[in-house]
Amino acid sequence: MEPMANPRSFFLTTPIFYVNDAPHIGHAYTEVAADVLARWHRQGGDDTWFLTGTDEHGQKILRTATANGVEPKEWADRLVESAWKPLLDTINISNDDFIRTTDARHEEGVAKFLQKLYDDGHVYAGEFEALYCVGCEEFKPKSEILDGTGEFEGEKVCAIHSKPLELLQEKNYFFKMSAFQDRLLALYEERPDFVQPASARNEVVAFVQQGLEDLSISRTSFDWGVPIPWDSSHVTYVWFDALLNYVTAIGYGRDDAEFDRRWPASHLVGKDILRFHAVIWPAMLMAAGIEVPDHVFAHGWLLVGGEKMSKSKLTGIAPNEITDTFGADAFRYYFMRAVSFGHDGSFSWEDLAARYHAELANGFGNLASRVLAMNAKYFEGRVPAPLEEQAEHADDAEIRELAASVAARADERIEAFAIHEAIAAVWELVDALNGYITEQEPWVLAKDPGQRDRLASVLYTASEGLRALAELLSPVIPEAAQKLWAALGAEETLGELAAQPIREAGRWRRLPAGVQQHPLAGLFPRIETDGSAK
Ligand code: ME8
Ligand code: MG
Repeated sequence: MEPMANPRSFFLTTPIFYVNDAPHIGHAYTEVAADVLARWHRQGGDDTWFLTGTDEHGQKILRTATANGVEPKEWADRLVESAWKPLLDTINISNDDFIRTTDARHEEGVAKFLQKLYDDGHVYAGEFEALYCVGCEEFKPKSEILDGTGEFEGEKVCAIHSKPLELLQEKNYFFKMSAFQDRLLALYEERPDFVQPASARNEVVAFVQQGLEDLSISRTSFDWGVPIPWDSSHVTYVWFDALLNYVTAIGYGRDDAEFDRRWPASHLVGKDILRFHAVIWPAMLMAAGIEVPDHVFAHGWLLVGGEKMSKSKLTGIAPNEITDTFGADAFRYYFMRAVSFGHDGSFSWEDLAARYHAELANGFGNLASRVLAMNAKYFEGRVPAPLEEQAEHADDAEIRELAASVAARADERIEAFAIHEAIAAVWELVDALNGYITEQEPWVLAKDPGQRDRLASVLYTASEGLRALAELLSPVIPEAAQKLWAALGAEETLGELAAQPIREAGRWRRLPAGVQQHPLAGLFPRIETDGSAK
């Protein structure tokens, strides 16, 4: 055995979500995308760390808690335990850590970071008046301020939340962000894949080229936040606090070895919060002398009636409305396959049901049950042995070569965050195997004793194809892939599915012949939908 090379570190984060309300499928969408990437990298042997969590300070949470007659911490505890952590089970998320901004490890890290910036001269006291959106927790730039209509006629409203902005005037501490404008522009120039996709990068570059202002990083009108370490009459601006979760979670200022092992991160965010991650966050890191992230990838929005699905507009669909009927695997598959990652997508029950039946039930599920049923019927439930000495049949070679090709392309697409294209590549193998079975007609071969060897080769090829599919689809549909893996008899011979090197999934003849297989319950049973309830 060769010694293992040092595995590559892959530290992936999601946004930490506001606990003002329960999650909807937009939040679940980000979690699933991150989970697919994390599972893929983990299965590829990378030193993977997947972080998610909750954002609990600031005015938005304080107001929600107050409106519900409880203290903000109590409110946050309630939402985290009853809604945000359960979400991770509902959609089968494999996060390694869950950070809350009320964790002591986080609050201590924020104080350390702030003190360092203050000591190094990046912070000054100033006075400020501007329009603030509590929904965004942001002073809005002019480009995102609209004139209100209807009930908000005559007021200024936020372009994202369509709610009135509030004029705030305070003495604040400011971060000298403007000083980093040139370094940021150089970063986008030198590392074109720092912000992805290209549309997001262009938007960020244009924004910074307009000129960066300094950033107000403290508030005095309320106290639900991390106290400013040198002036306890201020609390830290919630975004400044929240962004730091990405370093406090991995030991910033507390555990240097862990921090050095994990950092820098790849950040997955929705495009609504791109600027915070692609402008403010790298500027903060530059000021502190910390390396900037590897990547910031901004995905699109799930839309309802052409608008961003949102908590504040009450257009949210709860994830379990979908998983209760279709299951977590179908939820994961549908959103990752149907929406081009990086673009907006519209959810519809009809599209979900149609893809479920066509692609998961008929395409993949049927393929698996047919092949296993034929192995059971013709080879006593064992993986048939193909003849070693015979030249490989051209049709079998085609499947083998396709498996190698889709495995390589899928891995390359995952590296580029093109999750939908990775799945589409793997699905070429699903479709090819279905076509192969139809053309080879194993049930006809089975009637002719003279074709026994050919029958064995065909079913071995199909079984190997399923073995490769279980490995390649495990990050996307982990439950179904695991059932298939067990049914193939692969668990006993090759070991745990999660331990299979995904970057070698296309390598052929891994499933040993003669292995006893197990009955497979339908992976994706048909679902009767009356259509009316949804
Ligand atoms: O912004 N489509 O939290 P948040 C797709 N706490 N994704 C959506 C979505 C939709 N319709 N709606 C929400 C915050 N999301 C801050 C983040 S990070 C340091 C602090 C997802 O609860 C998407 O990932 O408003 C979006 O960026 C995020 O939820 C916003 O969650
Ligand atoms: Mg939001």
